[in-house]
Amino acid sequence: MNKVITNFMTGQRFLFAIITYIIAFSTLSAQTPLLQNISGRKTTLLDGLWQSQVDVYGVASQERSGLVKDRKPVKYQFNGENLRNTELVEQDLDVAEQLKVPGDWNTQRENLFYYEGNMWYRKKITLNPQAGKRYFLHFGAVNYEAVVYVNGTKLGQHEGGFTAFQFEVTSLLKAGENKILVNANNIRGENKIPTNITDWWNYGGITRSVNLVEVSETFISDYFIQLEKGKIADIKGWVKLEGSQKSQNVTIEIPEIGLKQTVKPDTSGFAALSFNVKKLQLWSPENPKLYLVKLTSATDTITDKIGFRTIETRGTDILLNGKPIFLKGASIHEEAPFRTGRAYSEGDARTLLTWAKELGSNYVRLAHYPHNETMTRMADEMGLLVWSEIPVYWAVKFEKPDVYVKAETQLLENISRDKNRASIIIWSMANETPETEDRLKFLKKLIDKTKSVDDTRLTAAALFSKASKGLQTIEDPLGEYVDVMGCNEYIGWYTLPAELAPTIQWTSKYNKPLIMSEFGGESVAGLHGKADEIWTEEYQNRIYENQVKMFDNISFLRGTSAWVLMDFRSPLRLLPRKQDFFNRKGLVSDTGIKKMAFYTLKRWYQTK
Ligand code: GCU
Repeated sequence: MNKVITNFMTGQRFLFAIITYIIAFSTLSAQTPLLQNISGRKTTLLDGLWQSQVDVYGVASQERSGLVKDRKPVKYQFNGENLRNTELVEQDLDVAEQLKVPGDWNTQRENLFYYEGNMWYRKKITLNPQAGKRYFLHFGAVNYEAVVYVNGTKLGQHEGGFTAFQFEVTSLLKAGENKILVNANNIRGENKIPTNITDWWNYGGITRSVNLVEVSETFISDYFIQLEKGKIADIKGWVKLEGSQKSQNVTIEIPEIGLKQTVKPDTSGFAALSFNVKKLQLWSPENPKLYLVKLTSATDTITDKIGFRTIETRGTDILLNGKPIFLKGASIHEEAPFRTGRAYSEGDARTLLTWAKELGSNYVRLAHYPHNETMTRMADEMGLLVWSEIPVYWAVKFEKPDVYVKAETQLLENISRDKNRASIIIWSMANETPETEDRLKFLKKLIDKTKSVDDTRLTAAALFSKASKGLQTIEDPLGEYVDVMGCNEYIGWYTLPAELAPTIQWTSKYNKPLIMSEFGGESVAGLHGKADEIWTEEYQNRIYENQVKMFDNISFLRGTSAWVLMDFRSPLRLLPRKQDFFNRKGLVSDTGIKKMAFYTLKRWYQTK
């Protein structure tokens, strides 16, 4: 009897997860639920030069009636309609300047470096839409908000600068020339996620690729295929069909291990997947094994490369595939090496992750927001474990319900896109947030939501420790609810002299693993002097020499991510000839120079 109840409960729990998933993802916003694995689908890439028009006051999305009565109103064609030539029109995208997509506008034109406002983008594209096919306009990201029109019809809007979104455009496309129009604005705000003050540059624009995706009328829209939590041979997940024939059988194959299983989705298009696999090579940093996974329905086929591993905690240990692991890494901002600006390309990802590997890393903290999908897929291939986070950063308005919705939407969009990436082991909720009741309620709700859609990964947050004479204690009430405690400390830079670090005792109120999620100090690459001369590489290096001695004394430490792999641009960093709008805590400069501290940390990682 017990077994029956257990199975029933397991089934119930699983059903709850699926229903939660449907509710969560289908109520995200005016868009359609995210298509899984864009790179595995038939797409028309819309990257390249787009017409663009700065619109400082944001006036161009409405008719501006004359300020003086009985004057004809000034009109704009931005939202795509063709105005009669008798009307007074005061803009013309046909002859306006162009911007490259993907790419922030700040680093494309000198006069846009500090620009914060509305930017209109337009792309004309000749298409030949096929009967019986469906079309989705997919954006990798627009920072911070996008309003999208196709052939003059407003599709909707998306808020959040680092997550993907899409709209169905099937009924709006026509044979011949089509116009895609986007109003992007990077206007900060205290009720946004992130809020108006961040220690990174507010790069605005269509910062990741744009694709027109073609699918069959009924197609495989989404799937989740990972090892069941704590199991090394039981794959559990689901597949989702969209369209009029939702009950088409779906076959899932993993040819390399001879797996082939067919399932029949229910009337909502959902089918649970659950099978035992014997000869699975588990994904790990040492062996980042990815399997070709093929999903086939009557009218759609999609393939993906998926790794399988388990991640859990046991007391203060983090277990990868059942074995304790120490996470050796660095935090990374999405700043493009050499050219600077928002990183987005395969080359950017390979440079950054190769530097992480050269450091001796098996892990990276992708701060402080979801990075582009090229980065997370490359982490899968290169064998780097990933801490993924949403920009609930510093002084968020935790007391406001609409701000919570924004955070949860970005969390769900982040999980939706990357839930099949073996490299991602941690969903982090927040960075350095104040210990208030509102914040605890807000973040606990985010943690519960995370677990309800993906219980296979760990949750974390970057917390503060409490300092008292020679002691650092982690007692943040949020520590009760995360699986792994992150802690940011800057002994030797913001607090205490560097040489005191090895004397510091660390304790925690919780019997959980600690990842030192940030530590370090600034230096100007190539600036040398004595170790007590600030801004020199020697000064930064002395911080690291003392930090690693301290780490060796922390019994519940299970990972470290230096702040930061590479210098990155920030409006808070104003010191001329030292910072020049760069946060110089990088182990590597934005020009690719590895600093002394890089090698000190590398040597310590070799001892782990
Ligand atoms: C903070 C914060 C980072 C910031 C860093 C710094 O801990 O999390 O975003 O860049 O400290 O001061 O350099």
